[in-house]
Amino acid sequence: MLEGVFVFWVLIAWPAFRRVDAAQGLRSRLDRRLFALAWWCLVVAFVTGGAWLFILGSQMSGMPISAVLPAGVLGIVLTQTHFGEAWLIRLALALILAGCLAVQRFTRIQLPTVIGALAAAVFVASLAWAGHGAAAEEVPFDAIHLPADILHLLATGAWLGALLPLGLLLAEARREGSAGAVTAAQAATLRFSTLGLTCVGTLLVTGIVNTWFLAGTVPALIGTLYGQLLLVKVALFLAMIAVASRNRRQFIPRLTDIAGKTADRLLAVVHLRRNVLTEAGIGVFVLAIVGVIGILPPGLHTEPSWPLPFRLDFGEIAPRIQAVLWVVVFAFAVCIVVAMITAWLRRPRIVAVSVAGLIVVVVIGCVAAWPGIVRAYPTSYYASTQPYSAPSVARGAPLYVANCTPCHGADGRGDGPLAASLPTRPADLTESHLFAHKIGDIFWWVSNGSDNHVMPGFAGKLTSDQRWDLINFVFARTAGIIADQATSHVTTASAPPLPDFAFEQNGAQNTLSQTLKSGPVLIVLYAARAPRARLDRLAGSVPRLAGAGLHIIAVRLGSSPAKAPLVVDVSDDVRTMLDLFRTSSDGGETELMLDRNGSVRARWTASRNGGLADTATLLSDAVLVARIPVAAANHAGHAH
Ligand code: HEC
Repeated sequence: MLEGVFVFWVLIAWPAFRRVDAAQGLRSRLDRRLFALAWWCLVVAFVTGGAWLFILGSQMSGMPISAVLPAGVLGIVLTQTHFGEAWLIRLALALILAGCLAVQRFTRIQLPTVIGALAAAVFVASLAWAGHGAAAEEVPFDAIHLPADILHLLATGAWLGALLPLGLLLAEARREGSAGAVTAAQAATLRFSTLGLTCVGTLLVTGIVNTWFLAGTVPALIGTLYGQLLLVKVALFLAMIAVASRNRRQFIPRLTDIAGKTADRLLAVVHLRRNVLTEAGIGVFVLAIVGVIGILPPGLHTEPSWPLPFRLDFGEIAPRIQAVLWVVVFAFAVCIVVAMITAWLRRPRIVAVSVAGLIVVVVIGCVAAWPGIVRAYPTSYYASTQPYSAPSVARGAPLYVANCTPCHGADGRGDGPLAASLPTRPADLTESHLFAHKIGDIFWWVSNGSDNHVMPGFAGKLTSDQRWDLINFVFARTAGIIADQATSHVTTASAPPLPDFAFEQNGAQNTLSQTLKSGPVLIVLYAARAPRARLDRLAGSVPRLAGAGLHIIAVRLGSSPAKAPLVVDVSDDVRTMLDLFRTSSDGGETELMLDRNGSVRARWTASRNGGLADTATLLSDAVLVARIPVAAANHAGHAH
């Protein structure tokens, strides 16, 4: 509101009154009310700003609010935190604003108000540093998000904040009722209209940018409280625009009709004032929602609870139909834009045509998307809370034996002792089909049972983290079984990845995922005695292989303590997990070439036909494997 009052003075009231000498009485009365408004705003800003400082100090120190001041917490918060820095800057700005208001009261030069307008703009923009945009760490994020946040705040202040001053002006103009007052009201309203359009455009663009960063996906938008509040906010914003456009189309033309009677124009002023106050009232609700949203974690950082029993799975739609869908989306957007523009220009026939087009496009879209409509559960869009890694897999293994073996069998092939007595055969959990499911759907079945209730839910028996561990174990075991089918020829078929694991090499800690960032990895697994000759040969070719980006990690799965070249130290969890990627029929060592995603692309064993690869083959294979694109996110998703 502070920003709005100053913007109103500088951009609207002064230029509007400059032309109308007859309205000087109106002007001084308006000024008096605006001064009062600005002072009240400052008082509220001081009081709530102080409260904010105390509450934060209490939160940071864990002390009750009454103890914050005697304990000297405020000094620490103010001098040693970013919040404190921003708070002091804001305090200085508030004092400058108070100074500007005090000086402006007694002078006719307008410099203090111009300075005040700038200070108020910085005061409002500085709120962005308390928001999510400033907390972002990724660089491209920061570069757009923070400026978008600042523009969003400035546009809100200028538009929403100037609504009440405009309402005051219209009220004063009506009270005065003279031709001069109406002319001043007209000039101000026209100027405000331009300001409003500029601000609304800015709000739309920056709002879309912020939504993208903080909600980002449809599930996050409709499945989290954050996203739902955001949608309510957008709806209220649209309601404000509807009121504003009614003003523009209906009342402003009446007000600016110079040939019209003053009484008619005054009536337009009355309508305008009412609508402007309605807009401001809706704006208060928008701000209240923003206040709640501000203390919630953003949509992308909470698990969305999907509210519908179905969802759209693009992968289920044939590629050619997918192309049709893109055209449909484009046509949909075109129809909407055309309908809106022609409605604005009052061309009912073209509006009717574009609405008909809209209906046709929606029908085509529904038919085309139909095969992609699949069953969905509240947890469908959950991401695993447990990273897909050796410790989680190791925790999941005994849970599987205790809970799942009776039906799914020790090896997961659906042949447990209870299997024969069940009305439906337990699923074979070793098929690659498992990976076609959304991980959130699997989480739902394991938590709440299968749709036909033959499989029970385990939500009451296992914690959510344990259920994720179980799923990681089942995935790792199936990944191992699928990897066993890889041959010495590099395959590009879709393949599930190896879980991440930590190891120690030459005294330094490292992880598989870290190593994969710089290129493919050859994993050498052996059970009993170290294959000395092979490891020596590989160690000798390390410089050449490193040239192709290939790293080598050798892991001893058995318990023989021998030290050998390239062998890394790992925990027992890692050995148990890696054992899933080796079969008992593999004599001697097993070698796996992993792409940068961690998926097994080629596999050699000493006992199989062709034996192990020579250096030249490893080199050319590494080049091939390095070219396989990294999947954007594997099924293990990302955990926060
Ligand atoms: C009482 C027997 C029983 C137990 C115990 C059981 N399941 Fe199942 N499970 C089934 C049956 C039967 C199905 C097939 C359901 C269907 O077709 O609708 C199934 C299906 C599944 C599926 C879906 C696979 C797919 O591809 O459709 C997963 C995943 C699964 N079970 C995991 C587990 C896990 C993990 C455990 C242990 C926590 C477990 N199940 C315990 C009987 C069982």
